Amino acid sequence: MPLRNNDHSYGSIAKWLHWSIALLFLGSYISVYYRQWFTQEETPENLVALQFHLSIGVTIGTLVVLRILWRLMNPAPLLEPGSRLEHVAAHIGHYALYLIMIITPLTGYLGTGVNTDYFFLFEIPKFADTWLFGSWVQNGLGMTFEQFEEPVDFIHKEVLGEWLVWLLILGHVLAALYHHFIKKDRTLLRMTIDRDSRGRG
Ligand code: HEM
Ligand code: HEM
Repeated sequence: MPLRNNDHSYGSIAKWLHWSIALLFLGSYISVYYRQWFTQEETPENLVALQFHLSIGVTIGTLVVLRILWRLMNPAPLLEPGSRLEHVAAHIGHYALYLIMIITPLTGYLGTGVNTDYFFLFEIPKFADTWLFGSWVQNGLGMTFEQFEEPVDFIHKEVLGEWLVWLLILGHVLAALYHHFIKKDRTLLRMTIDRDSRGRG
C-alpha cells in the first residue's frame, strides 16, 4: 500500500493517523465518563481515569499537528462523484473535524488545574505553571487562573465535549455509511482496505 495519498485513495500514513485518532477520541470519552459515572471523587481509580483522559487528549493534540503537516504536504484524494452541495458539505465537515481536533485538546490543556502524568511515564506541567501563562494571561490579560479557566472549561466541556464533537463525529460517520450503503461508492473503502492505486480515469 503506498505511503502517500494518490488521486483516488488515501495512503497508509493518512489512514493510520485517521484511525489512531478516531480510536483515541473513543478512549478520551471512555476515560472521562468512566471517571464521572463509575468512580468516587479523589479515589485512586478516579485519578487514574483522569490521567488517562489527559494523556490520551495530549496524544491527540500531538498527532493532529503531525496529521495536518502531512495533509499539507500530501493533498487528499479527489472526492467521489456527487452534487456540488455534497462536495461543499464534505469539505466543510472535514475542516470542522480538523478544527475540533485542535481546539478540544488545546482548551483541555489550557483549562486543566493538574499536571499531566503522561501514561504514568513522565510529567507535563499544567498551563498555569508555564511561562506563557504568566506573560500572556496574568500580565497581558490581567486574569487569575480561576477567571481564565471558567470560559475555557465551558468551551472544552459544555460546548465541545458534550455537544459539538459528538454531533460532528456522528454526522461524519453517517455520511460515511450513506456513501457505502446507499451511494455504494468507494468513499469508505479508500479510507480502509482499498489497495487499488490506479490513477483516475
Ligand atoms: C480531543 C481530545 C479531548 C476530548 C474529546 C475531550 C472531551 C472531554 C469531555 C467529554 C469531558 C467531560 C465534559 C463533562 O463534564 O461532561 C472532558 C472533561 C475534561 N477534560 Fe477533556 N477532552 C479532550 C482532551 C483533553 C486534554 C488534552 C486535557 C488536558 C490536558 C483535558 C482535560 C479535561 C479535564 C480536566 C476535564 C474535567 C474532568 C472531569 O470533570 O471529570 N481534556 N473532556
Ligand atoms: C467510525 C468512525 C469513522 C468513520 C467510519 C470515518 C470515515 C471516514 C472516511 C470514509 C473518510 C474519507 C472521506 C473521503 O474520502 O472523502 C474520512 C475522512 C476524514 N475523517 Fe473520518 N471516520 C471516522 C472517525 C473520525 C473521527 C473520530 C475524526 C476526527 C475527530 C475523523 C476525521 C476525519 C477527517 C478530518 C477526514 C478528512 C481527511 C482528509 O481528507 O484530510 N474521522 N473518515
